[in-house]
Amino acid sequence: MNEKLFSLIGILAKNHSLSLDEYEYLIVNRCDEAAKLLAEQADSIRKKIYGNAVYIRGLIEISNICKNDCLYCGIRRSNRHCGRYRLSPEQILNCVDEGYTLGFRTFVFQGGEDFFWGDDILCKLIGRIKEKHGDCAVTLSLGERSRESYERLYRAGADRYLLRHETADREHYRRLHPEDMSFENRMRCLWELQDIGYQVGCGFMVGSPFQSCAFLAEDLKFIETFRPDMCGIGPFIPHRDTPFKGYSPGTVELTCYLLSMIRLIHPPVLLPATTALGTIHPRGREMGIMAGANVVMPNLSPADVRKKYELYNNKICMNEEAAEGKAMLEQRMRTIGYEIVTERGDIKQPAAAQCFSGHADL
Ligand code: 5AD
Repeated sequence: MNEKLFSLIGILAKNHSLSLDEYEYLIVNRCDEAAKLLAEQADSIRKKIYGNAVYIRGLIEISNICKNDCLYCGIRRSNRHCGRYRLSPEQILNCVDEGYTLGFRTFVFQGGEDFFWGDDILCKLIGRIKEKHGDCAVTLSLGERSRESYERLYRAGADRYLLRHETADREHYRRLHPEDMSFENRMRCLWELQDIGYQVGCGFMVGSPFQSCAFLAEDLKFIETFRPDMCGIGPFIPHRDTPFKGYSPGTVELTCYLLSMIRLIHPPVLLPATTALGTIHPRGREMGIMAGANVVMPNLSPADVRKKYELYNNKICMNEEAAEGKAMLEQRMRTIGYEIVTERGDIKQPAAAQCFSGHADL
């Protein structure tokens, strides 16, 4: 590895910040040795904050009906081959109860931008879950909404919100989305969610069409500035019924490299080893954890709808029961020396973990 690469990794681990050009340099000039060093640094800083704990989130895919037409996504509005479904509140509550028995203490409600899920019905659902399982965190991942809507859902008890920024480059955003969607609105949502008090997750796909190392550097700078509580990144995987069907998928290698960088940029961040990462490589999620991730999100959706929530092709864990999925992940994590824990798994604020900050000794 060249000296510059080596020194930049040292600076990143110490200062948790680099310039845009330096981020780009680290990505363009990456090599196996640099990846190994970054992963070691990321793993060590993560262990200081979270030990060998891996948090689990029960993912419930509440609807695949979507008003948007994102060019990469399998549940985009114009995909006629996608069989649409929407879970009922009762079905969702059953999934939550089953998950609770299995030890889940965070539930993520994810879905397309489906008009059915207005504020009234969502607030009622959140209220019922919080009433029954007051020790659980409720995470929403339901796309772009108005500030008023985010506020109402927050008041109803939602704790966290996941909304990937998808790309921090305005021009790149335009090439991944139809004209009626905008980078400005995406960013407006993220900043408002943070302002309201949610724990907020952003994130992006690795290897999406037209992505360059310069754009990835912008993503990292955005993460450094925004300081999200969670950050979801996974490889882009083409879906056969989208305009991006002919593009090649992102790689495990680059995804893991970026996971390590993100851990060093923002040490306490909650970082999932995503299902997409597990889809492009049989040991993808293990590799993600070893690179610095500390969250996994097994699927709790009813088995019969899972196939229909197909953002990309060949998604894993399509046929397993919730209990099987959790047991399998526990086993996989144990083989690499990590332990799945049953906790809400909130972000640990840096103040509580003095050990890693470059400023702590001042
Ligand atoms: N490949 C990988 N990830 C995808 N997503 C959507 N489509 C794809 C795809 N083809 C991601 C987006 C979205 C999240 C829910 O899933 O980043 O925000």
